[in-house]
This record gives sequence, structure tokens and C-alpha cells, in this order.
Amino acid sequence: MKLGVCYYPEQWDESLWASDARRMAELGLSTVRIAEFAWALIEPAPGRFEWDWLDRAINTLAEAGLEVVLGTPTAAPPHWLVEQHPDVLAVDAHGRTKPFGSRRHYCFSSETFHTASARVVTAMAERYGSHPAVIAWQTDNEYGCHDTTVSYSQGALKRFRAWLAERYGSIEALNQAWGNVFWSMTYARFEDVGLPVAMPAPPNPSQLLAFQRFASDEVLRYNRMQVEILRRHAPGRPVLHNFMGFFGSFEHHKMGRDLDIASWDSYPLGHLDGMNVASEAEKLAHRRTGHPDIAAFNHDLYRGVVASGRWWVMEQQAGPVNWAPWNALPLPGMVRAWTWEAFAHGAELVSYFRWRQVPYAQEQLHSGLNTPDNLLATGGEEAAQVARELATVPVETSRPARVALVVDYAGKWALDALPNSADFDVHTLQLRWYSALRRLGLDVDVLPASADFSGYQLVAVPTLPVVSPDFVDRLQRSGAQLVFGPRSGSRTAEMHIAEGLPPGPLRALFPGLRVTAVEGLRPGIALPVSLGDTSAQVTRWRDVLDLPAGLTAEGSYSDGHAAVVQHGLARYISGWLCDAGLGAVMARAASAAGLPAQPLPEGLRLRRRGRLQFAVHYGEQAVQLPAPADARFVLGGPVLEAGGVAAWWLD
Ligand code: GLA
Ligand code: GLA
Repeated sequence: MKLGVCYYPEQWDESLWASDARRMAELGLSTVRIAEFAWALIEPAPGRFEWDWLDRAINTLAEAGLEVVLGTPTAAPPHWLVEQHPDVLAVDAHGRTKPFGSRRHYCFSSETFHTASARVVTAMAERYGSHPAVIAWQTDNEYGCHDTTVSYSQGALKRFRAWLAERYGSIEALNQAWGNVFWSMTYARFEDVGLPVAMPAPPNPSQLLAFQRFASDEVLRYNRMQVEILRRHAPGRPVLHNFMGFFGSFEHHKMGRDLDIASWDSYPLGHLDGMNVASEAEKLAHRRTGHPDIAAFNHDLYRGVVASGRWWVMEQQAGPVNWAPWNALPLPGMVRAWTWEAFAHGAELVSYFRWRQVPYAQEQLHSGLNTPDNLLATGGEEAAQVARELATVPVETSRPARVALVVDYAGKWALDALPNSADFDVHTLQLRWYSALRRLGLDVDVLPASADFSGYQLVAVPTLPVVSPDFVDRLQRSGAQLVFGPRSGSRTAEMHIAEGLPPGPLRALFPGLRVTAVEGLRPGIALPVSLGDTSAQVTRWRDVLDLPAGLTAEGSYSDGHAAVVQHGLARYISGWLCDAGLGAVMARAASAAGLPAQPLPEGLRLRRRGRLQFAVHYGEQAVQLPAPADARFVLGGPVLEAGGVAAWWLD
């Protein structure tokens, strides 16, 4: 369990570097990430490389005993490249070229961008690949950030057609797979197919899904190009990428196969205020703590993205950010709490963003561990506190949880292609389901549908439109209790209605069950659902079920239709169920699975790391921890205030 920081030596006078490095080490930081936006300084003109400044920056850090993570600088292509090769620029949905002047202005399908990237990455890796202080490499920065996965460029169009030819083999097969007899959309050749954008009526959802799959593959291809270069010139140095929170536009687990470590950038206040995955009430209640489950969900996701389970927080919010609609100050103690929470979920390293607030350009309102005039800020003091505490808390190895929650990227694209209810947001649904489990004190592993589920006692699937028989098979063999959410099994891989009606292949678990109609529920509509002792509601969405004999309705709508169906080890929830309802269904499934599930006090969350039980408190009122009277604490004590952290031995 180590601490790090993100640092931009090029943004400061060189006279500061040595004291910065010394103060980082004194604070208890061990790892510094640099250079991920420094292309224009590394290669000021095509093929001309300037290493002196970067040599000195790396050596200054190394002399202070710090380890360096080098970022490849490709997220910020320099002006000369754009000028020489305008085709590196991405094109938006209105056909406008995205201009130079910020970052991420490149198109993943541009061959000249691949060539220029390969050149700078090769040069950097040749120079620093065996530098003793450079312990790891980060590819690019936050692929897809600022909505940049997709580009509607000529380069993308050309490659999309080739990708289609590869996937479908013949144009007849494509026409068949997409149902192009509809509206005379039949194509004669792959060269006739365009990009699914800016049409008068909606594009074919099968085409949309194909284009999203293609765009994801393009991101993977670009990353793989960088990884191969780094492996060649920096042998033995782990390669990672810094992913984002609740970001769904490419296949993270597939990229994980090319990486050694997964990392992500955790901004609890920015994510709560700036992403629409939480309610207005939650945004208000947690504006200074962050949502109790948003960072945790992503920790649990990224732990599963690389097979080894190695993961870091590459950027940890350390004070206010600048990019949400409203940027709150963290509650005092929260930077410490977020850091410990990441360690509780198994992180090897938590690296703060950023060393010092910069007084100019786009992020001048974004805090750092130090103020712009170089005094330690509150976040810096809390980082120092964690560094001191780390010396006293043993490092335990994370073990797999007993509960899995399944996420699926292509499934999200499928539902986004035909939402049918304007607020059926897959990330929001995933968060609600995850929260329901976490409020019961359960540890959760967030896994892809391709995972091995053996050893799990409860598997929750918030929604999975495209279900393969193989997935059902693996679930059945696990013997776990299963809970599926609305629209699961509703689509084929090519975006048709599932054969025999939804839930398609899930009928292996629910014999004879059919979804005969679906309904989008506009805001203000809440359908009452009776669920034993719990009175619950369904908003946003419901599947209308035809329930055959032999299946049990555990809950019903007032029109008599089943809301929750149970059969054998499996349950199907037919709508967007409220928190109370989800809590009740999860509690039943957990109890059937033999899992100890107890509702936690408001705002409290638990997480085990090996034999240590951690607790983090996001609520306002002080709480008594569910620890035995004689618990041996290694951090904190039996009562937690808002923003408090504790850890005690389980045995
Ligand atoms: C219009 C069109 C139809 C169909 C319906 C769908 O009426 O003419 O082709 O698209 O909308 O409601
Ligand atoms: C992202 C980026 C950083 C920085 C931060 C600000 O995470 O990776 O470069 O812009 O956001 O919060």
C-alpha cells in the first residue's frame, strides 16, 4: 500500500524541482507520474527529440528516492502534427473537425496519428525503458474522456467498412443481420455503408451497435500498438492505463488483457455532481463526502479488469475539482477516507492529483496537495496523515468476494441504441443494484459476463440484454443465487428481439417465462409493488410478464402482473425497482445463499481486505460500528464520525 502523486515538472520553474521532490519524499509519497501531456516539449518538431529537461526531471525525482511512472504523451498531440496532418483530428457528430487548443483532439482511426504516436512512444521507451527509476508506464491518458471514443472521420468510415467486411463476410450476411429489408436499407457493397449519424430518422440500431463495437476495437488497437512498443523497449516494467469512473464506451476487460495493472482516476465529488448516476437528494446529502458507493463500485470493477487483480488509483481527488457543475470542498478528513477506502478494496497504490494547483490555463481552479503559492493544502496534510498511518497498518491480500455483480459494455450500447425510456441509464442502474448489496454489508466483485462464477454464492445482473447460453451455463454450474434485472435476455447479439421473446436464453432458468410487452415510465409515474412486508415502487421501466405455472411471483403490480419472479435459484426483477424493493429482494437472495446480510447504519460501508475489516463512514451522524466488543483495531475505534475510517482484525 503506497502513495503517489501526479506531477508536471514542465509547468514549473526548474528551480522548484529539487525542493518539490524532497517534499514529496518527506510527505511519505513514493511514486510520481509525469509527462503524459508533454509531447510538444519532448518532440518540439517532427522527429526532433529533446530529452535534457525530462532527463533532469526524472533524475531529480530519483535522487530524492522517488519512483517514476512515465506517461506516453499522446493525449495531447502537438500543433505541428495537426498542421502537417489534419487527418489526425477527430470529427464530431455534426461533421465538424474538432480543433486544436485543448487535449484529446485525435481520431483513433487516423493512420498518420498511429505513425506519429508510434514514433514518440518508441523514442521515449528507448530512452527510459531501462532507467532504474522508471518503474511503470501509463499509455496515453483516459481513453475516451471528453466523449472522444467515437470519431466520424473519413478514416473511421474507411476502417469501419473493412471491419464490417471482416465481421460479416458478405454484404448479404450484413443485410440479413441488420434486417435491412426494413425501410429499403439494403446495401449492395460494403463501400455503400455509411456512419450511423446525422440521418433524418434514427439509424438502424444494429448498425449503431456495430459501430460502437468497431469504435471500441479501434481504442484497443491503438492501445495495443503502444503496449507492444513498451514491452519491446521497457521489458519487465508493468504497463497500465488510467481508466475513468462509470465510463462505458469501450471494452475495459478486453483492454485489460493487454495490460499488467488496471488503474482509474477517482474524483468522488466530481463524479457525484458531474455524472448523472445519483439522485438530486444524494447530490445534496453527499456533496462534500462523495456518494458512499460510486468510488467503491469502480474500485471493485477495476480490481477485475486485469487478470492478476493488480490495480491502482492513478489520480485521487485531493481537494475541489474544476469540472463538475458545482465543485464542493471535501469535508475535512475525506481525502484520508477516500484513500483508505481504496486500500480497503485492494489498491496497491493511491496517487493524488496533483502535486500543486497551477495558476494558469484550463485547470487553474483545480486543487492539488499544495496551493499555487506552494503551501501544503488540507489534502496534502491528509495525505501525510495516511502516510504515517500506513506504517502501522499491515498489508493484507484481498480475497475474492462471495457476491458478484455483472456489467457488460456491449449490453449498455444495445440499450443506448434503443432506450425506449429516456432515463433508463445503465450506469445508474448498476449503481443502484450495487448500493443495495453494499447497504447490506456485503463485499462485491464487479465482473464481466465472461467471468468464471465458481465460488460465488450470489450473482446479481442489473441488466444484460445479450445473454449467451454459455453465460447461463456458467451461472448454473456456480450454484449461486441469481438475481436478474429488467431487459435481461431481451436482445440477440445483432440487436433483434430475443427468440421466443425476452428473456430469451434466460428461459433455461425460468421455464416458459415471456416478456409480452414493455413500458417506459416517464418521471412522476411510480407503480406500487407489494413485496411481502415491503411496499416498493417501480419507476422508469417495466417488463410485462406472462407467468407460466410453476414460477412464483414474489411481488406484484396492482394490475396483478408479476413484478418479481422466483424459480429455483433465480429471481427476475421486471422493472426499475426502488432502493427499498431492491434491498428486500437482495436480502432474500443473500439469505437463501447463506450470506450474512445486515442492513448497515445510514452512510456506513464495510469492506474486507484479507483478515482486516475496514469501515468508512459517509453519513452525517456518528455511528457505532458492527465490531465485536473486544475487536482489535489497527485504525480508528468503535465509533465513527462523518468521514471517519476504522479497521479491525476479523479473527
Ligand atoms: C409514422 C411513420 C411510420 C412509423 C410510425 C411509427 O407514422 O409513417 O412508418 O414509423 O410513425 O409510429
Ligand atoms: C482527469 C485527467 C487529468 C485532470 C483531471 C482533473 O482525471 O486525467 O489530467 O484533467 O481529470 O480532475
